[in-house]
Amino acid sequence: MIVRDFQRVIGVEARAQMIQACGRLPNELIACIGGGSNSIGLFHPFLEDASVEMTGVEAGGTGILPGQHAARFAGGRPGVLQGTYTYLLQDEQGQIQNTHSISAGLDYPAIGPEHAHLHDIGRVRYTHVSDAEALDAAFSLSRLEGIIPALESAHAIAHAIQKAPTLPQDHIILVGLSGRGDKDVEAQYVEMPS
Ligand SMILES: Cc1ncc(COP(=O)(O)O)c(C=O)c1O
Repeated sequence: MIVRDFQRVIGVEARAQMIQACGRLPNELIACIGGGSNSIGLFHPFLEDASVEMTGVEAGGTGILPGQHAARFAGGRPGVLQGTYTYLLQDEQGQIQNTHSISAGLDYPAIGPEHAHLHDIGRVRYTHVSDAEALDAAFSLSRLEGIIPALESAHAIAHAIQKAPTLPQDHIILVGLSGRGDKDVEAQYVEMPS
């Protein structure tokens, strides 16, 4: 709750700016999820707004197979890690599994317990995108908008890029850009298509 309450400034500010800029609430929020702090901060001030859909995007890595991703909802089940009961990537005996993501910040076997609750009550939808899709989205945002996103944030952008063409033109998606990509430029450079 301490993390959520501090991070909440993201959602409070985004909500106010959206109303100022667009005159209404967004139809949907999209944010990436590692431990869950930037996304719970964005989502929380909108939770009572029933019209606002929310999607959390986890790291699909190189596939939803043990050790190849960090998508706790797609590949995990409830358990306890670091004193918290939540969704975990674990083996049959409850031992924590290795995780993988191109983005270090999403590479974590558990998820903040408030997300587990929001998942179970169906208030927030959770999905995942792969390393390759996140990289592609990072290149697209850099080229098209001149904004180099963190590879974590690029997961949210990838999902928005996939979904936007299926939606009406007046549908407003608010994407949480959780960090800048200066720290990831080297990793992006190595993977850059020639
Ligand atoms: C830029 C950035 N975005 C997102 C995350 C994921 O963490 P959380 O889900 O707790 O916001 C991290 C974690 O290090 C990060 O560095």
